[in-house]
Amino acid sequence: MLNRRLLLAAGLAAPAMLRAQVAPPEGFAAPAGTFPFAPDVYRARREALMATLKDGIAVVYGASEVPDSGPFVQNGDFAWLTGIVDEPGAVLVMAPTERLYREFLFLPSRNPETERWEVERLPLGSTLERRTGIAKVMRAEMLDRLAPTLAERSKSLHFLGPIASAAAPVPPALELYGKIAARVPGTSVKDNSDLLPALREVKEPRELALMKKAAAATARGHVAAMQAVRPGMTEGQLKDILEAGFRTGGGTGLSYDSIVATGRNAASLHYRGRTGAITAGDMILIDAAASVDTYACDVTRTFPASGKFSDEQRRNYELVLSAQAAAAEKLKAGVYYEDLETAAKDVFRKAGRIDDFYHGLGHFVGLDVHDPGDRYKPIPAGAVITIEPGLYVQSGNYGIRIEDLFLVTATGNERLSAATPRSVAEIEATMAGR
Ligand code: GLY
Ligand code: MN
Ligand code: MN
Repeated sequence: MLNRRLLLAAGLAAPAMLRAQVAPPEGFAAPAGTFPFAPDVYRARREALMATLKDGIAVVYGASEVPDSGPFVQNGDFAWLTGIVDEPGAVLVMAPTERLYREFLFLPSRNPETERWEVERLPLGSTLERRTGIAKVMRAEMLDRLAPTLAERSKSLHFLGPIASAAAPVPPALELYGKIAARVPGTSVKDNSDLLPALREVKEPRELALMKKAAAATARGHVAAMQAVRPGMTEGQLKDILEAGFRTGGGTGLSYDSIVATGRNAASLHYRGRTGAITAGDMILIDAAASVDTYACDVTRTFPASGKFSDEQRRNYELVLSAQAAAAEKLKAGVYYEDLETAAKDVFRKAGRIDDFYHGLGHFVGLDVHDPGDRYKPIPAGAVITIEPGLYVQSGNYGIRIEDLFLVTATGNERLSAATPRSVAEIEATMAGR
């Protein structure tokens, strides 16, 4: 089973790297234990959540494996609460008022046939419980029986989110709660979808340490790409150099699929091609970041293939940079995302370019590259966010985006991605060394 959070896409080198960096504590069996922190860390997070819930039950589903959809990526809320990153189909149940067991982990049954191909998994028992830090580990088939029993004793069914769009499938926790409500009179579903975002928004020092490592690895990759680029290369060749740089810099995975877009391709926001040929007059946009031990980073840089900005390229680039600076200037604990957006948009508006910037200014980052957080509340100290303004002009064959990662503090902010060259002078100096 492949896991993008744990595995830097690196062709044949990847499995060796996976073994080296994510060695299970005892034997080669999943779940190998909690990752990247010790079981106590996750237990403390669940305790904090249960102290707020007080009663009832809360069910959190991990991600399921979707056949042929690429590497498995664990659900962020589930990973944050359990540290279990490589068990598709796992479910966590918390029941704060229970006396014997207050936490239950449900894992799919073992399958000796698939284990011969993928990974050997542990049997139920004390080894599994010690490794996961969860006192009661059961098979997934038992969930339908246990959940109504718990609900009978304490009748609030807490929904921890996230709220899904009307077009998306009903979240599995709400489906389960519907079945419980049909069988246990007196139960009610409570919306607590704001709790996990509020907890996850404020990063723990151990989380920040990994995010800083991810930012350092990310810088290494971007610098490698700036120094290696030559007209005539394809986007795919440059992407391979970028991702090799992430790995050299200590990255253990990709935060998301890297975007390397040259010329006009950079004006398409979700461009994913590899075959575009880089020509001498192009600006190249790279939106890509390493992750370290499942923690993300998110950086975009745009630079001239020639190594030297033309006057027009520099004018446009510096406009985007000043929009980012205007937002960053305002950023400290207590501000609203909207205030940052207004500051950035005012810069584009004054330059008569407001219609060339047409996406959101940024988002929270953490375990997930788009981490949960409430954009409509003041941003707290300890949050990590991006500020990523851009200008996109298809008729002019360019797109420019500048994206940095900021840790919010009581008095201002710290730019975690500062090691990736950003100003015109920094980029040209980096590329001059080619
Ligand atoms: N790389 C994804 C984003 O910038 O939001
Ligand atoms: Mn972003
Ligand atoms: Mn990005």
